[in-house]
Amino acid sequence: MTSEDDFTETIYSLSKKRGFFWGPSPEIYGGSAGFYDLGPLGKLLKNRLEATIRSAFVKADFWEVECPTVSPRIVWEASGHIEGFIDPITECTKCGQTYRADNLIEEFMPEEKAAGLTIDELTKKIQELELVCPSCKGELGPVQEYNLMLKTELGLDQEAYMRPETATSTYLLFKRLLTFFRQKLPGSVFQIGKAYRNEISPRQGMLRLREFTQVEGQIFLVESDAKEWPGFELVKDEELPLLPSDVQEQDIDDVMWTSVGDALKKEYFHTQAYAWCVHLAYLIFSGMGFPKDSIRLRQHLDNEKAHYAIDAWDVEIHTRSFGWIECCGVHDRGDYDLKRHQEYSGENLSVKVNKKPVVPNVLEIAFGVERPLYALLDNAYAEDEERVWLRFAPEVAPIQVAVFPLMGKDELMEPALEIYEEINESGLIVYFDKGGSIGRRYRRQDEVGTPFCVTIDYDTLEDTTVTIRERDSMEQIRVKRENLVKSLRNLVRGTVEFESLQ
Ligand code: GLY
Repeated sequence: MTSEDDFTETIYSLSKKRGFFWGPSPEIYGGSAGFYDLGPLGKLLKNRLEATIRSAFVKADFWEVECPTVSPRIVWEASGHIEGFIDPITECTKCGQTYRADNLIEEFMPEEKAAGLTIDELTKKIQELELVCPSCKGELGPVQEYNLMLKTELGLDQEAYMRPETATSTYLLFKRLLTFFRQKLPGSVFQIGKAYRNEISPRQGMLRLREFTQVEGQIFLVESDAKEWPGFELVKDEELPLLPSDVQEQDIDDVMWTSVGDALKKEYFHTQAYAWCVHLAYLIFSGMGFPKDSIRLRQHLDNEKAHYAIDAWDVEIHTRSFGWIECCGVHDRGDYDLKRHQEYSGENLSVKVNKKPVVPNVLEIAFGVERPLYALLDNAYAEDEERVWLRFAPEVAPIQVAVFPLMGKDELMEPALEIYEEINESGLIVYFDKGGSIGRRYRRQDEVGTPFCVTIDYDTLEDTTVTIRERDSMEQIRVKRENLVKSLRNLVRGTVEFESLQ
């Protein structure tokens, strides 16, 4: 059994070797913490994840938008990020190294809960626990507030910030969107784009990035929509793995499988619309192929909530590297954002409800793509005496099908290339490999998680059948060439079982 640290190392070294991710970037200059490059397979995996995410949002009636990643200071004053998007830090009085105070306390005293403590409480806690600088053992200074936004300048002197979330840039579009929605709410939009956070000494690799790709869905709605949400009936009997805040306060961390409808009755969720939103977030993560017992939904305790949140539930994913990790936040942001932008911009951002102006509320699903990407690699990893393989769900696998001529001879190369082209044209992600023994070619594809390999051999020339080999079972079956593409498409979609093709 490998330790957690060894396992993290296993994932990082596989990722480096096979081109999932590299870093910290720029590697040839020593690297800056919090920046990673995606290699060809990492980019393919991310594209697959984004495709499943995009399709889930579109199916749920969200429209996609794209906004600039830099905005002037006024935007972030209005959003509350200048004042509220801060981490508590402490600086070593001897070597000058800075640390996130709450993380440092929890790292050295895992039984201490430091999240949510005030600046003064954190300073006191560090003194009580006699914590010193992990690097030089020097004395740690008083805890101070540190803003996480990356500052920049527009032109010569206009103060501006890289967006720390896509959400705010979406809210700035509200008037335009309302016209697009023909003045009718609810209306839903999402963005997939870069966001930036100037994390203080990030030490968790791909899990804490200074530049990352955020996915954020926003629903604009008024109170009556929230109470009676159109999609609620369709999901009310679906079961969710819940960990509400009152249970956590009793130190229980077993999930309670509860239907969406019951969770609403028990007041774990306060409105139909919010319950529907948490369910959608769960669907998005299930759709990435995480095993059922690796996903849970955890409600934030009051002292964990962001400055704009009335209620917040996280999607957490279990990893062998780090245990449970937060991967997505579902927030009820109330009317906080639109009210603030109305006040700071002077624009009217209300709608009419019963002829009276009302500033709409916002529900949000927010996550970075890199965390589930790492968690997928972690969950997918499998090994035995013979091989290492990645058990990605076929839908998200970076390469879905590999095509091999048994040997690089012309009579096999020709049909193999034809078959490769046919699969390519069908929209599946396909890779052609003629190098090395067939066994080595299978192992290479196992190691990057390719679920199906197609081999063209001498029987193909005789009876027009080809072999499909399934990654996890390593079973092989022969199918007629004319049925190949359809079979592969069904296998990737999960609409047929491999054995049934026999
Ligand atoms: N927009 C919410 C977040 O960035 O977590």
